[in-house]
Amino acid sequence: MGMNSMLGDATMINGAAVAGVMTKAMIRDVDNLRKQGITPGLAVVLVGDDPASEVYVRSKIRKTKAVGMNSFCHRLPSDTSQSALLDLIATLNADPDIHGILVQLPLPLHIQRDAVLDAISPEKDVDGFHVLNAGKLAVGRTDGMIPCTPRGCMILLRQVLPSLAGLHAVVIGCSNIVGRPMARLLLNEGCTVVVTHLQTRDVAAEARRADILIVAAGHPGLVRSNWVKPGAVVIDVGINRITTPNGTTIVGDVAFDEVADHAKAITPVPGGVGPMTIACLLQNTLQAAQNTIITKALVS
Ligand code: GUN
Repeated sequence: MGMNSMLGDATMINGAAVAGVMTKAMIRDVDNLRKQGITPGLAVVLVGDDPASEVYVRSKIRKTKAVGMNSFCHRLPSDTSQSALLDLIATLNADPDIHGILVQLPLPLHIQRDAVLDAISPEKDVDGFHVLNAGKLAVGRTDGMIPCTPRGCMILLRQVLPSLAGLHAVVIGCSNIVGRPMARLLLNEGCTVVVTHLQTRDVAAEARRADILIVAAGHPGLVRSNWVKPGAVVIDVGINRITTPNGTTIVGDVAFDEVADHAKAITPVPGGVGPMTIACLLQNTLQAAQNTIITKALVS
């Protein structure tokens, strides 16, 4: 816990530092795999030119290379047909040099997202979005791929909470990328879990009961200090680009300064959950590459 710092009475959970420790260990593990003749490979597919996706994809490619993995990037125009995209996925599924496949979301509206995600081989589904991996998580099985951002949030929670069993967890937001898988992970660890969404009558009242508050709403400054029970652990998943008189800046979904005053621990934005997402993506890719050795040993 030496990585984290105090902010008044609250611990500021340093996601960037935790991701850095994971990265160091992965550089060593990738090196070991390469000595056995396997270089983990991650293919990233970007359809169209969403500016936020461009930023995320560039960062994923840079960090993939930085740990010694092979990075393969496929950029397709926004008018790419669904069948052309499915053909590319079939090619990547069959390529033994590729251990992980990530299709950056959102996809253009003419493409059915679920058909594309379910075409990815579940063993290579490093985002954990395939219905088989989502289902495994939902029924409490631990042999599937776990979505990167929720996996990163769990690692950050363990920095400040040795056991989650019996704690009351509230997840604000119910997306398939964060909210839903997050709720399932917390449930699997023994939390009592409430998920709030746009139809929830009184989100603040639900939030105030939380020992663990996960905020993934995409709404800058949504969570104020009167939404947070004293001593709660607050994980801010929001990444919002806002314009101020001094230019654009990135803020989370939590009004950080006022909430930090009475939380037990809190993640900053930037430098909290964000760096953990990519670290967990690379961890999933490493796991997928290691699994190919285990599978080979079983069939030979
Ligand atoms: N778009 C926003 N977050 C994610 C993510 O974690 N994975 C993918 N593939 N697309 C995203």
